[in-house]
Amino acid sequence: MSQPKILLLGPPGAGKGTQSSNLVSEFGVEHVTTGDALRSNKEMDISDLGLEYDTPGEYMDRGELVPDEVVNAIVEKALTSADGFVLDGYPRNLDQAEELESMTELDVIVSLSVSEAELVDRLTGRRVCSDCGENYHVEFDQPEKAGVCDECGGELIQREDDQEKAVRNRLEVFAENTEPVIDYYSDRDAFVEIDGEQSLDDVWNDLQAAVESAI
Ligand code: AP5
Repeated sequence: MSQPKILLLGPPGAGKGTQSSNLVSEFGVEHVTTGDALRSNKEMDISDLGLEYDTPGEYMDRGELVPDEVVNAIVEKALTSADGFVLDGYPRNLDQAEELESMTELDVIVSLSVSEAELVDRLTGRRVCSDCGENYHVEFDQPEKAGVCDECGGELIQREDDQEKAVRNRLEVFAENTEPVIDYYSDRDAFVEIDGEQSLDDVWNDLQAAVESAI
């Protein structure tokens, strides 16, 4: 059988990136993440599209969504070249969900649910490696040496959009735009909701079981 096609939904800080790494290791799928793809192209010139801002980074640092025409093109290209995948960070609104229908079929759709207070703690405390992108947390997941990545020795930094003001805005944008996407998928057979507020290992156990029963 071909590799699984997994959609991972959830609010900012739910653990999508963290658990996507586990899925990549366990199932050999590709990690398709619009957040990382856009972070690598924050300064891309999109001024010819006649939108509010001239680069993706100007939307991201405010916690706003990058316009659909930019994001849809990134996802379509990535999915075309992937066999199995875990899709993380897309779709974030109903238009993107409809666009995704025309690109591929999904084997399992997982929604990670986490309370708002926990999300704010996780995001404002998150630190990321400026070289390899590995995630840490000042309290829940500390590196061996403060400020230094265990994997590659790179410097740990705080993402611009993990400042509290941008975090609050991201959560509002999620409630308005992305919660309807979860409702859109929630009555499908492939849909599974997982309590993302459990320990990292318990979330992973539930997620692994959900994917295994779908394939
Ligand atoms: P993106 O990078 O996708 O950010 P996000 O969805 O806000 O997700 P995060 O990466 O912040 O959180 P996560 O769920 O991956 O959590 P993580 O595993 O890191 O998008 C950034 C921006 O890009 C958007 O705001 C937007 O501007 C733009 N964008 C992206 N996609 C777009 C789209 N489709 N359309 C338009 N614009 C788009 O975990 C967070 C922290 O919690 C970590 O420190 C981790 O160690 C900790 N943690 C995780 N799980 C647990 C646990 N179980 N217990 C304790 N701690 C935990």
